[in-house]
Amino acid sequence: MDLTSHDETKLGGSFTLPGTLLTVHRMGYGAMQLAGPGVFGPPKDRDAAVAVLWEAVASGVNHIDTSDFYGPHITNQLIRDALHPYPDDLVIVTKVGARRGADKSWIHDVSPQNLINSVHDNLRNLEVEALDVVNLRAWGNNGQAPSEEALADPLTVLIELKRQGLVRNIGLSNITPKQLTEAQAMTEIVCVQNFYNLAHRGDDDFIDDLARQGIAYVPFFPLGGFSPLQSSVLDAVAAMLQATPMQVALAWLLRRAPNILLIPGTSSIAHLRENLAATELNLSKDALQQLDSVTETKPSNAA
Ligand SMILES: NC(=O)c1ccc[n+]([C@@H]2O[C@H](COP(=O)([O-])OP(=O)(O)OC[C@H]3O[C@@H](n4cnc5c(N)ncnc54)[C@H](OP(=O)(O)O)[C@@H]3O)[C@@H](O)[C@H]2O)c1
Repeated sequence: MDLTSHDETKLGGSFTLPGTLLTVHRMGYGAMQLAGPGVFGPPKDRDAAVAVLWEAVASGVNHIDTSDFYGPHITNQLIRDALHPYPDDLVIVTKVGARRGADKSWIHDVSPQNLINSVHDNLRNLEVEALDVVNLRAWGNNGQAPSEEALADPLTVLIELKRQGLVRNIGLSNITPKQLTEAQAMTEIVCVQNFYNLAHRGDDDFIDDLARQGIAYVPFFPLGGFSPLQSSVLDAVAAMLQATPMQVALAWLLRRAPNILLIPGTSSIAHLRENLAATELNLSKDALQQLDSVTETKPSNAA
């Protein structure tokens, strides 16, 4: 794919986070894949990781999703080393609510101290005075499907950090509509980041409701995450359109709802270019009908 053929101002159109001046292209970039295997430790090729970040921003991406627990710390340090001082329009969205064990495990931790430490870790490693958006990552059932766990206590901590000026905006991740309503009674929520893709569509009604409210819906695992999407229908549509299955999966998400923002993750420049080029793909009515018939394939592991 040739990036120079892109209209760099397009990248899937743009979206303004509600109640903010933060406007991002709908095609963004998820930085989780930049750490080493298991999202732990340094990447095998640091220069290649930096090159992916450069290429993303040079191509017009102005929304990067990250967390200080990717690495841990390493992904944010890569973003800082590659991109600081940041372009004025770059929005970096991070998340808190977990930490990593020495054995690479993901440990849910919404204790006030961990949330405060996490915000300060993000500030230090990204080298910013305030974080554009912080998602509170709920754990649900073993970190996978959302449950109705109470978010009031951790949200209170984030609201205080916002009052202190360290956090500009708050989002939620891995949550249900009920949890959103409870959170909205406490503070403005600008985005929701949940597991959703062509073959995993449990949030269909939720997405439509968020669209009505003008809240961004940011699917994690848009390409299937640790279990890449596999579907004969997807393959057939991709062949018909002379595109790759991953491009079709991303183009489908862009068509699904106007409030969907994409953050596909990759450690490869070739895949990055391919993913960005998905914004140029037109899906015919027939292609959309076929894609809508795709059903759940196999479960992914959340992270
Ligand atoms: N809120 C949460 O709980 C949560 C959970 C998980 C992720 N996230 C965020 O969501 C972002 C996206 O999720 P993700 O990275 O886990 O999963 P993803 O975007 O669904 O898929 C990433 C996987 O797909 C591969 N890939 C990417 N582009 C490809 C292409 N064009 N062709 C073939 N393979 C391709 C990547 O490998 P290569 O590196 O080889 O390209 C990687 O293995 C993350 O970066 C992270 O910021 C949030």
